[in-house]
Amino acid sequence: MTLTPMSMTEFDRFARLIEACCGIHMPPDKLALLSNRLRRRMSLLGLDAFEAYYRRVTAGPGASAELPHFINAVTTHETYFFRHESMWRQFTGELIPRWARRLTCSPAGPRIWSAASSSGEEAYTAAILLLEHLPDAALRRVDILGSDICASMLAKAKAAVYDDYAVSRVPKPLLDRWFAPSSAGFRLHDAARAPVRFRLHDLRDNLDEGGFDLVLLCNVLMYFDMPTKIRAIDVAVEALAPGGHLYVGNVDPIHTLPRSSSAAAMEYVRPGVYQKLLQSGVIGEKVAFAQAGDERGVDAEFGGERLVATGGAAASLTDAGRR
Ligand SMILES: C[S@@+](CC[C@H](N)C(=O)[O-])C[C@H]1O[C@@H](n2cnc3c(N)ncnc32)[C@H](O)[C@@H]1O
Repeated sequence: MTLTPMSMTEFDRFARLIEACCGIHMPPDKLALLSNRLRRRMSLLGLDAFEAYYRRVTAGPGASAELPHFINAVTTHETYFFRHESMWRQFTGELIPRWARRLTCSPAGPRIWSAASSSGEEAYTAAILLLEHLPDAALRRVDILGSDICASMLAKAKAAVYDDYAVSRVPKPLLDRWFAPSSAGFRLHDAARAPVRFRLHDLRDNLDEGGFDLVLLCNVLMYFDMPTKIRAIDVAVEALAPGGHLYVGNVDPIHTLPRSSSAAAMEYVRPGVYQKLLQSGVIGEKVAFAQAGDERGVDAEFGGERLVATGGAAASLTDAGRR
């Protein structure tokens, strides 16, 4: 089937639709990318004109059924286990020990939200590392949520069977321990799947749950226009427990954003890492350590890499943009 090329008028209509459906900004230089992505879906449907596909996804009885396929086609799902190696080093070296200490004096297990989780690799990486490093009793209290706007990615996440590419950065001992190779790919063991749940969620909507110790908001902000970036950050910060951390990866420099309504609630830790203040100007660890009877405080933990809040002098996320 020969498709007519996408015109700029057709591109503009689709770009507006994409912005409305998922907040993703499509600049005109993405015309070829968008037209290739839609072509695959259109050829499955036997459609040879972009105009016909636009009608299919916006009007008539089949439109709402087509919408998830459209969202799947236009979103970028690239992900793999142990993406952002340094982030996972910090996770293992800083956050897991902190949660382990907290578990000695409080029953609350770590709660993690992998927002825009795609096919689940990020959420399951967190599960594998927690299983490796937390004592057994604590593991029963771990709660990991993976969410995405794309239903087909969530179905893939729940199936937890991955190809060579997805597991290519998994250290060999962990691959042997946590995956079973099969003709379908590498199947994640049930023990690593158990603490992880998945649900559909649009980052522009409030999450109807909160109290997370860590929100991973990686490799998604760059697709959004500025109001949507700010909205997504506000939603993530709102879902964090006081003292909880926000990881945005190394291609989502949220400290360059203008003031979002949650900016004043966040402390810049290092590139890609932020921490929610307990209250205006007070960071979380000192209280967590004090509760655990550990007097070392946050300076020692972070090797003086950041400003430390003492009684209201914390540098906020907005200050971080000036460094
Ligand atoms: C590149 S993947 C990132 C996966 C993972 N976080 C990582 O860093 O490896 C981006 C994901 O964002 C999702 N996404 C796009 N717009 C979204 C929105 N408005 N709300 C929630 N998820 C969205 C896409 O469906 C896609 O799976």
